[in-house]
Amino acid sequence: MTSESKNRVLSGMRPTGRLHLGHYHGVLKNWVQLQHEYDCYFFVADWHALTTHYEDPQIIGESVMDMVIDWLAAGVNPANAKIFVQSDVPQHAELHLLLSMLTPLGWLERVPSYKDQQEKLRERDLATYGFLGYPLLQSADILIYKAGSVPVGEDQVAHVELTREVARRFNHLYGREPDFEEKADAAMKKMGKKNAKLYRQLRKRYQEQGDQDALDTGRALLVSQANLALGDRERLYGYLEGSGRIILPEPEALLTPASKMPGLDGQKMSKSYGNTICLRDDPEEIEQKLRTMPTDPARVRRNDPGDPDVCPVFQLHQVYSDEQRQQWVREGCTSAGIGCLDCKQPVVDAVLGELAPLRERAREFEQDPQMVRNILQEGGEAARDVAEDTMREVRSAIGLNY
Ligand code: TRP
Ligand code: SF4
Repeated sequence: MTSESKNRVLSGMRPTGRLHLGHYHGVLKNWVQLQHEYDCYFFVADWHALTTHYEDPQIIGESVMDMVIDWLAAGVNPANAKIFVQSDVPQHAELHLLLSMLTPLGWLERVPSYKDQQEKLRERDLATYGFLGYPLLQSADILIYKAGSVPVGEDQVAHVELTREVARRFNHLYGREPDFEEKADAAMKKMGKKNAKLYRQLRKRYQEQGDQDALDTGRALLVSQANLALGDRERLYGYLEGSGRIILPEPEALLTPASKMPGLDGQKMSKSYGNTICLRDDPEEIEQKLRTMPTDPARVRRNDPGDPDVCPVFQLHQVYSDEQRQQWVREGCTSAGIGCLDCKQPVVDAVLGELAPLRERAREFEQDPQMVRNILQEGGEAARDVAEDTMREVRSAIGLNY
């Protein structure tokens, strides 16, 4: 993998409603971090949303702008990351189509989310071609940017794994140019005698003895060769490993730790449980939601002692309060020294404090939707440039350049 590709991160989110604190703690805060360390591509996965919402697509249209405003409000910055809409980059669809030709049905049927989601979303008919293929669409999303890292939760790791297999198969089928050896030879010469010799030795050590260090050193050697063209570098990567030319590099999952963000009822925060606090809820609404959220059911009266370990409010303290305040809750609750509203107040303050700057930033974009459209347009242009470069290589590797 070239260093350019290694440093690239891609992730997407389906536009199916407003974002809540679960998204913020589970995904967006991570994106905001990543944008300072990597070349980030973040996109609105509208075609993905269609695979489950093809019967009621209006929610998708209504959610795209809102979702992007939520991203921007959370601190995703178009100066640091490319932000765009999937369907503005038709190359995703073209690559998906081409990859579909070489992807065995069994690989898709075996992706765990296929059966799981069909079970879970019983009210929708998901026995469709598009739904079966959506993990492959995701592979195309990733491979079209040659992204090295894909931040995902546990549930999406299998999709990155599929992407790796598809990339490997693609490279195996189409990375073998008829004159591969000669081209690799010519590319080697461009490194100069000394480096070419070293490269040959490392390749031999890796291929004959499986020496992993030799492979790593060989790769590092290629990275340091400033005067190698991109195609030559990829050729030499492939030659080093004994595969063909690597056209689509295999990405790695950047596992995001599962968000511990509890909802208002103590289950994981999720729209389908109706237990969310949305990023742009009014402060009054947030306060109301928290004041009326359930507590330890055994604590009926003010002077009944309670048990924080069965109380959803305490779970929120575990997100928002330091050790000392958690201790205050524990003592006050079990001795009936504090009331539940007393206990909730610091959580109310913490959530409102956390969301205030987001609300502030969101307001600017709400008042100027054209600014959001411009951001998406610029992001789309940049994304299309990169995507089209990859498609040119892909078409030519298959031989579709007549
Ligand atoms: N499938 C992801 C989800 O449902 C969204 C997604 C689409 C994605 N394409 C992606 C995530 C590529 C990471 C990389 O949440
Ligand atoms: Fe829950 Fe706090 Fe009430 Fe105890 S005092 S039951 S932890 S809200």
